Amino acid sequence: MYKINDNYQKLPGSYLFSTIAKKVNAFTAANPDKSIIRLGIGDVTQPIAPAIIEAMHKAVDEMGQAETFRGYAPDLGYDFLRNAIVENDYKSRGCDISADEIFVSDGAKSDSANIQEIFSVDNKIAVCDPVYPVYVDSNVMAGRTGVYDTEKETWSNVIYMPCTKENGFVPEFPKETPDMIYLCLPNNPTGTTITKAQLQEWVDYANKVGAVILYDAAYEAYISESDVAHSIYECEGARTCAIELKSYSKNAGFTGVRLGYTVVPKDLKCGDVSLNAMWARRHGTKFNGAPYIVQRAGEATYSPEGKAQLKEQVAYYMKNAATIKAGLQDAGYTVFGGVNAPYIWLKTPENMTSWEFFDYLLENANVVGTPGSGFGPSGEGYFRLTAFGTYENTVAAIERIKKL
Ligand code: MLT
Repeated sequence: MYKINDNYQKLPGSYLFSTIAKKVNAFTAANPDKSIIRLGIGDVTQPIAPAIIEAMHKAVDEMGQAETFRGYAPDLGYDFLRNAIVENDYKSRGCDISADEIFVSDGAKSDSANIQEIFSVDNKIAVCDPVYPVYVDSNVMAGRTGVYDTEKETWSNVIYMPCTKENGFVPEFPKETPDMIYLCLPNNPTGTTITKAQLQEWVDYANKVGAVILYDAAYEAYISESDVAHSIYECEGARTCAIELKSYSKNAGFTGVRLGYTVVPKDLKCGDVSLNAMWARRHGTKFNGAPYIVQRAGEATYSPEGKAQLKEQVAYYMKNAATIKAGLQDAGYTVFGGVNAPYIWLKTPENMTSWEFFDYLLENANVVGTPGSGFGPSGEGYFRLTAFGTYENTVAAIERIKKL
């Protein structure tokens, strides 16, 4: 008789955004006349930029001609895209990263879930609290997290680094030494970030204690302040302790197109073993490459027209962020984030729990957000709104909230 991976049985509830979708669907079915504004999941609403669409059309046409047809993509990514990434995302910022350290993928969600596979199950992970649920859940599936405490909503073998208004949302070095440190900066869900100098301290710490940093930079395009690093490789010593995960979902609207990449420097070694070689082996075995058409779309994000159009798109969403932030502040809410990230993190009013506020907002304003406690125990009493809606819906949502 076969056995299942019992670790899956340990996962409490369903994936956060699936739970929210079920609740909203139930509300919509019971209230078909209500118009719901969704500012929950960080899903983009603006169409793909014209320069990218043009590149995709061209690539589609190439696939229809015998001379230009492409079969399997190289499993680590086409050179045209890996070279464009090196030039634009790294060299331009003075980071020493080469094309054979870039692994093109179908997005940062899968990479951030899969990267733990190349590490021992005995490693101890440290996560910010609140945190993007994928980091913890993927480690639960792998059997790395110990026993779940239903009351505290924590895992016995996970180091939690609280990020709350008390510490300015800056994670502190944990008392217990971790092996793998997940950092997402600018941060999902709090919409806050840390300075380059503070990030340098994390790099120094990881190098000192022999930990690896799994650095999720999915929201990098939203950085507006000059003392914030766009890549962890801007910090000295990061090549020996950090893996960086990047996504095209948020900067180029590829949530449905699917494209991302992971950087594993060749200097990152555990003893004699190269993590770059391990990830190449894993990628080669389990992945057949992102589609040619999509990689051409990725390349177009770096063309002069593509860059200009995406800059406008980011500005559009950041105008939403400013609208949400100012509107909520006017209405008396305590609000964080929204300056270097497209998320607004607010304190729930009148000591409501995060889920109580979720229900209150859905029922009374017909606005969907994300309960902070869904991201971890320190998220309790907070609530996240995304700036990825349309401007019209964002304005309407804030008007409705103000009237409550
Ligand atoms: C979020 O809402 O936290 C994100 O959209 C989830 C994701 O990027 O997978």
